[in-house]
Amino acid sequence: MPRRKVRTAILISGRGSNMLALAKAAMNSNFPAEIVLVISNNPEAPGLQLATDMHIPVIAMDHLQVKSRKKFDAKMHKHLLDHQVELICCAGYMRILSPWFVSKWPRRILNIHPSLLPKYKGLHTHQRVLEAGDTHHGCTVHYVNEELDGGDVILQAKTKVNSEDTTETLSMKVQKLEHPLYVKSLAKVASSFDFSIL
Ligand code: GAR
Repeated sequence: MPRRKVRTAILISGRGSNMLALAKAAMNSNFPAEIVLVISNNPEAPGLQLATDMHIPVIAMDHLQVKSRKKFDAKMHKHLLDHQVELICCAGYMRILSPWFVSKWPRRILNIHPSLLPKYKGLHTHQRVLEAGDTHHGCTVHYVNEELDGGDVILQAKTKVNSEDTTETLSMKVQKLEHPLYVKSLAKVASSFDFSIL
């Protein structure tokens, strides 16, 4: 019997280009994951409309309306359970997940980060690459654990840094690498997903 697709949610905060790349890939009947929910902590995120246009259920949660991170994450956890989500992809989700939330989803949360981890955890990665004079830059898909940008690496993609590069050109170069990398990473994780641990 063919394996069923892994029920996957995507967390976003903004543009949603990685979310769109995953959602498009998941429409292929051979892709091992399906996107069953998109949640944004920012009700103004342009990605919400992109997901709606693809007929994916969306939930906009305004983190400014919820006092504590734990309470916000508990609400999000409930939405995920209500939709029988099995795997979570953070795609430009610019909010730190609480240790409580991370403990509920061990090795079941993926994130994409615009640097070659373990280099440049956190923000302003393109700027930091230029300041350091690095010859290479790139992006990483990794599991999320309680340490910021610290979980095991799933896949990475690399690009050269030229002397003419600026934060804008690096951002464009990295974004081009991100979409296929995230699709490949989700396919890798979902195709070996252990349904028995749920
Ligand atoms: C992506 O470049 C992603 O790597 C980055 O935000 C962008 C989101 O773009 N994520 C982080 O910086 C997380 N620390 P998108 O909304 O178009 O997918």
